[in-house]
Amino acid sequence: MDAPTLINVKTLHNTSQLLLRNLNRLKGERFLVVNYPPDNFVLALHQQWPAARMTAFNYDYAPHLYLQSVFGHANLPIDNIRFGAVYNAPAERYDVAILFLPKSRALIQMSLQMVAAALRPGAQVWLVGENNAGIRSSSTLLEQQMGAVRTVDAARHCLLLQAMAPDQPVAFVLDEWSTTYPIQIGQQTLTVASLPGVFSNGQLDEGTQLLLETLDEPPTGRILDFGCGAGVIGASMKQKWPANIVEMVDANALALEATRRTMVANHLPIDLIKPSNVFSDVQGAYTQIISNPPFHTGVKTDYRVVTDFLQKAAQHLAPGGSLRIVANSFLKYQPLIEAHVGNCRVVAENRSYRIYEGIHK
Ligand SMILES: C[S@@+](CC[C@H](N)C(=O)[O-])C[C@H]1O[C@@H](n2cnc3c(N)ncnc32)[C@H](O)[C@@H]1O
Repeated sequence: MDAPTLINVKTLHNTSQLLLRNLNRLKGERFLVVNYPPDNFVLALHQQWPAARMTAFNYDYAPHLYLQSVFGHANLPIDNIRFGAVYNAPAERYDVAILFLPKSRALIQMSLQMVAAALRPGAQVWLVGENNAGIRSSSTLLEQQMGAVRTVDAARHCLLLQAMAPDQPVAFVLDEWSTTYPIQIGQQTLTVASLPGVFSNGQLDEGTQLLLETLDEPPTGRILDFGCGAGVIGASMKQKWPANIVEMVDANALALEATRRTMVANHLPIDLIKPSNVFSDVQGAYTQIISNPPFHTGVKTDYRVVTDFLQKAAQHLAPGGSLRIVANSFLKYQPLIEAHVGNCRVVAENRSYRIYEGIHK
C-alpha cells in the first residue's frame, strides 16, 4: 500500500471537517459511511483505522466517482465503494455508521432505517449535517429510529449527533418507501413512481408540464432524457412515440430506480436507464436531448451542473439535432445555448417558465 496521503482539511466540506476533528471517537472494526460528500473524508477515516473494514455508500454518482478515483490513486480497493438506491447489508453487521444528513425529511427517515438494518445492536450511529440543512430537527428523527441522542460537537455551522443502534433487528424494504401518483399531460395519462428525495415527488412539475405540452411533432431517432428524475419526460415520449429509442440518465440512484419503476408501471419498454454525472457516462450522438435541468443542488443555488450540461450538449448531438429544455424565466440560458449548441429560439413561455430549443450547427 502507498504511504498515507495527507489530508488538506481546507478542501473538506464543513461536515467532514467536523467529523475529522472527532476522528479518534469514531472507533470500530466495520464502518458504514452513507451519503458522504465528494471529498477525502473517507480516505482520512481509512488512514485513521487502516485495519477496519469499510463500506462507503452513496445515492449520488458524483461523490461515488470521486471516491473511487481517490481510492484508485492511493492503490486502495474500491469494491466497497457502492452506488445505488439501497444498500443491502451483508449478514455480518457493521459496528459504526456515519450518515451525512440527506436533503429531504423522507430521505433522512429512509436512510436511518436502512442504516439501522445494517448495524449490530448497540452499534454507534453518527449523524452529521449543516445547521441550514436541518440537522437540529433531524435529532428527533434519529431518536425515533435509534433511541437517545447525544450532541457530541458543533462547529463550522454543523452539528455532530450520536446514538446507538436499537437492540431489536430492523428490516429495510425499499418498496415500502415507493409511492405512485397519476399525471395528465394533454390527453396522455401516466403513472409516476417515486422514492424519497426524487424531484417533484407527488406531482407533475409545472416546468416539465410545459415542456411536454410543447412536444407536438414526433421526434425521431435516439433521444436522451437528461436528469430524468422519476422518468416523467422519457416515459411520456416513449408512450407517445414508441418507435424512438429513449435513453434516460440521472446522477441520483433513487431517481434512476424511480424511473425504472415508472417505466414498469406504464408497461413501457426500457431502452436504457443509467447513471451519469452530467455526460460522464453518455456515449454517442442523439437526435434530441431533452431536459428539465437541475439549477440547484443542496441548500445553495448552484448553476455549475446546468452550465456544464449546456456547454457539452453539442458533443452529444448529431448534426441538426436539437436540445430542448425548460427553465425558470429568470434563468438566462439563451446566450449559453447560442454559444455552445447553435441557433436558439424560445418555443413557448408562460409566467414562470420558458422552453428553449437549440439546433446543433
Ligand atoms: C429538475 S429535475 C428534473 C427531473 C425530471 N426530468 C422531471 O422533469 O420531473 C433535475 C434532475 O437532474 C438530476 N441531476 C442533478 N445533478 C445531475 C448531474 N450532475 N448529472 C445528471 N443529472 C443530475 C437530479 O437528480 C434531478 O433528478
